[in-house]
Amino acid sequence: MKTITLVNEKGGVGKTTLAVHIAAGLAIRGYKVVLADADPQGHATVSLGAKKEPGLYDLLVRGAPFRDVLRPVSPDRFGVPGYPVKGQLYIVPSNVETRSIPIQISDAFAVVDRFRELQDLVDVVIFDTSPTPSLLHGSIYLATDSIIYPTKCEFLSFDGLVESFTHREMMQQTRERWGLSEIGVMGIVPTMFRASTLVHQENLNKLRAKYGDLVWPEMYMRTVWPEASTVGQLVFRFAPQSGAARDLWNIIDRVESELNR
Ligand SMILES: Nc1ncnc2c1ncn2[C@@H]1O[C@H](COP(=O)(O)OP(=O)(O)OP(=O)(O)O)[C@@H](O)[C@H]1O
Ligand SMILES: [Mg+2]
Repeated sequence: MKTITLVNEKGGVGKTTLAVHIAAGLAIRGYKVVLADADPQGHATVSLGAKKEPGLYDLLVRGAPFRDVLRPVSPDRFGVPGYPVKGQLYIVPSNVETRSIPIQISDAFAVVDRFRELQDLVDVVIFDTSPTPSLLHGSIYLATDSIIYPTKCEFLSFDGLVESFTHREMMQQTRERWGLSEIGVMGIVPTMFRASTLVHQENLNKLRAKYGDLVWPEMYMRTVWPEASTVGQLVFRFAPQSGAARDLWNIIDRVESELNR
């Protein structure tokens, strides 16, 4: 089992969109995937058509078994029309109660301990996180193999990225003390990129100069994204031949090759 977390301390950069679509894309390709919604907004939850409920809270605070909190996602919601979905997708839903998880759990290893139960049962766990750092983020860092950082090519998103890198480095020290391996940076994904906007081009160049090959192919600003979410569908299903779907499969190729390294 590999654990991937989507992080950027700037809001609205595409964390949830990517978390949901990477989870679904891997499930389409045959992986057994659990998407854990760790954001009180519950946007990953509703994006997959699940009900906002205290799934993560029940798991971590009330000690609920996974069988009570995992919600299967029907392939009708995310699969590509005409192609069989080879794997499975489950969500651990979230609601506003997720906000109080950090004050209810005293053990920083709560996330590690609970998700370890899935070790031999699923291939990939993906955490979608909120933009505001919290102690829950710290617990998730302890349970994470690697992080994907979505970022817009804009100043404030870069600031969020730098802050997020600092927090990962701080948690690295804690992990070292406990004999845990380094958290890998799987990739940085430039999102909502506009090729015709000079400042986006300049900022993308800066990003590549600083982080090199860690910067993955850009995902373009495309109206298909809000259109798909407005009708409650994922892009694979809503517009399988679109540029947005093409951008996405490029990203999923990268995730898959990192998983199989
Ligand atoms: N490539 C894109 N082109 C156009 N719109 C996009 C693109 N990617 C995401 N969006 C839209 O941008 C909005 C914000 O995306 P999303 O909710 O994934 O960001 P987030 O980082 O999870 O936000 P938060 O920090 O609030 O959790 C959504 O309405 C989504 O549909
Ligand atoms: Mg989000």
